[in-house]
Amino acid sequence: MSMAPILEVRGLRKQFGGSIVLNGVNLAVEEASVHGLIGPNGAGKTTFFNVINGIYPPSAGTVTFRRRDITGLSMSRIARAGIGRTFQIARVFREMSVLENMLVPAIELGLSGRAARAKAEQLLDLVRLSHLARSPAIEISGGQQKLLEFARVLMIEPSLVLLDEPFNGISPILCEKLIQVILALRQEKGLTFLLISHEVPHLSQLCSRLTVLAAGQEIADGTPESVRHDPRVIEAYLGQAEAAV
Ligand SMILES: Nc1ncnc2c1ncn2[C@@H]1O[C@H](COP(=O)(O)OP(=O)(O)OP(=O)(O)O)[C@@H](O)[C@H]1O
Ligand SMILES: [Mg+2]
Repeated sequence: MSMAPILEVRGLRKQFGGSIVLNGVNLAVEEASVHGLIGPNGAGKTTFFNVINGIYPPSAGTVTFRRRDITGLSMSRIARAGIGRTFQIARVFREMSVLENMLVPAIELGLSGRAARAKAEQLLDLVRLSHLARSPAIEISGGQQKLLEFARVLMIEPSLVLLDEPFNGISPILCEKLIQVILALRQEKGLTFLLISHEVPHLSQLCSRLTVLAAGQEIADGTPESVRHDPRVIEAYLGQAEAAV
């Protein structure tokens, strides 16, 4: 018998004024899996993350995380419950150094200086940013800022990490490194990832399962191979300049 999903979303709706962005999304993420969320531009993927991690309350529907109803909780409570999140355009503290950025979540969690610093240095090493530890975050590239944000989210030791287009702006070598890091964290620490990406080869390498969102609804769910050949998915991408599937 399989375990209950770590994250279960049912009937999730989000409406801004008259515009319905999420129209009853259902999604279940298995623990210790890498689950992909794909779909054309404007499908509602980022909004889905924004509702799950508490930036916006949903208009309707439920979010259950580790069997606990977290629907409508604040962002900080959801983070403390164990959901980490990165942004499509990295959000870093631009005036702080790379290392100081890493220490912000540690301060929030009340970790001791020495332990936090050791952990921060180890994580920076993991994403190959150690040599930039003292640089102001504003001086590193957009791709490096994304890696910094990824490393920073691991400081809170989340059990589920939501990654919004983590490979955008990152060099091929670092992309490959990031893929290996994600797979190792899943394998060795049982971390679960839900990630948005348009990069089909990366998704195939990482994900056991994909959910396809189009116009605020999930239109397909399955292995990367099955989703790719699904006529509804092909149709959803028609007319989109940046054909992703
Ligand atoms: N705060 C908001 N107020 C009003 N409309 C919003 C808001 N946030 C998102 N939207 C709208 O919701 C729709 C979906 O946007 P979203 O950013 O979730 O799409 P996406 O699937 O992440 O697209 P992309 O692949 O381009 O990142 C868009 O039409 C967007 O304008
Ligand atoms: Mg988006």
